[in-house]
Amino acid sequence: MVQNLSRIIAQDKNFLNIINGRRVAALSQETITVLCPSDGLAFATIPAGSAGDVDRAVSAAREAFDHGPWSRMTAVERGRLLTRLGRLIEQHGDELAALESRDTGKPIRQGRADVAAAMRYYEFYGGAGDKIHGDTIPFLDGYTALTLREPHGVVAGIIPWNYPMQIMARVVGAALAMGNTLVVKPAEDASLSTIRIGELAVDAGFPDGVLNVITGYGREAGAALSSHPGIDYVTFTGSPTTGTAIQQAAATNNRGVTMELGGKSPQIVFADTDIERALPVLVNAIIQNGGQTCSAGSRILIERPIYDEVATALGERFNKLVAGPHDADLDLGAMINPAQKRRVENYVRAAAEAGIDVAGRGSIDSNAPAAGFYVAPVLFGAVDPSAIIAQEEVFGPVLSLFAFNDEQDAIRLANSTEYGLVAGVWTKDGARQHRVAKRIRAGQVFVNAYGAGGGIELPFGGFKKSGHGREKGFEALYDMSATKTIIFRHD
Ligand code: NAI
Ligand code: MG
Repeated sequence: MVQNLSRIIAQDKNFLNIINGRRVAALSQETITVLCPSDGLAFATIPAGSAGDVDRAVSAAREAFDHGPWSRMTAVERGRLLTRLGRLIEQHGDELAALESRDTGKPIRQGRADVAAAMRYYEFYGGAGDKIHGDTIPFLDGYTALTLREPHGVVAGIIPWNYPMQIMARVVGAALAMGNTLVVKPAEDASLSTIRIGELAVDAGFPDGVLNVITGYGREAGAALSSHPGIDYVTFTGSPTTGTAIQQAAATNNRGVTMELGGKSPQIVFADTDIERALPVLVNAIIQNGGQTCSAGSRILIERPIYDEVATALGERFNKLVAGPHDADLDLGAMINPAQKRRVENYVRAAAEAGIDVAGRGSIDSNAPAAGFYVAPVLFGAVDPSAIIAQEEVFGPVLSLFAFNDEQDAIRLANSTEYGLVAGVWTKDGARQHRVAKRIRAGQVFVNAYGAGGGIELPFGGFKKSGHGREKGFEALYDMSATKTIIFRHD
């Protein structure tokens, strides 16, 4: 499969933007070199878009929204186009999985899982847009009042590098289902699948200008896009710092935003847990995608009587984990770029220097190219809840364990970071499942499970520093539209 990809890329090393249904270079003709995290080698280029390119993309999306055939299409017709795009993604699944995995360093099976999830988003939103209804509202005598859900207009989608294909799909699916047009800006470190799916959207028959893809650095293309007065709404997934910058930029035009800003998600393991069942889930929640997952389960809170048993079992599993090239399909791949590798290593070094116990450590495959951006997974035991490693999002394969005394203590610890994205609760006690799930400040709480099934249907988003607004499921369709109330007087 990866050989297959080399052939594809050899034919087309220079990826282009998609503006108004056409493939175009940056106005400046400048490009960004694309590196494969597995070996650090260049294998493609993308356009280095800046303000002028953003302006062209926004104008195309504006024209398509205001005057194009898109503006007169029904929800059913828009849904059929999304469904067709999903089918094209399925047909190009091997190519897209290989492209995503080479561009991001993720194991090829994760690339395949991302294709399946992306396909499922287009399928879900392809069938969902025509199920969104307004209300009729009891009002004064002689009046009838009703609501319509209307698109915002031109939406900017700023996408991170960890799951580009999936995150693009949840943005594109919901935004287009509701009749918006889009300018998508993928991350400079992982733009290839977004460009390729932008091309497939042209093949699927979306009218020109409905889905534009513009690549470039965040500080240039991203900043120009989020502050552009022609944008009506901004949706962003990424770091809280960049989220603040984007919200400030959007605020200069008083535009609405959806922000998904990561987490420090806890899993609470009570003493009655079926440990054998929980262990693989606990490990996968932090190892999937090398821990570069907004919803990574990066803290495990363990009830004191079973702390040693669970810590030992997790340590044994961590010691066997191996990081390696995407095509070797090991437990995890490389980090996205050298900066992310250093960032993770710095957290690990600081925690070890602070005397935190290393309860397990995986390895880097001996065949992995030395120039790849690998880090070995690390398990920290008996972590103090005020430690930096307990509070900050590492975005790498680093897991921290904590002991707790009782239910109150567990809830307090779970809520003791600035984040609130996802949580897991492991217990057989049904009443406790409900009590704890309700008291955790997180947008999703899994009980005796974690991050299951891609969650396309499940509303997703944060409390606190994890952001605001909801994506996925039906809720995203509300985020991607605004209510219009129409009041008739007929007395
Ligand atoms: P970032 O948040 O800066 O990048 C995400 C996206 O924002 C990219 O498309 C980037 O080009 C764009 N961007 C950057 N600066 C911008 C600006 N001023 N205006 C508009 N767009 C801008 O994330 P970065 O620096 O790549 O990663 C740093 C940390 O962010 C990670 O270690 C991780 O903790 C967090 N992160 C969280 C993600 C999540 O899924 N919640 C995804 C990616 C990163
Ligand atoms: Mg890359």
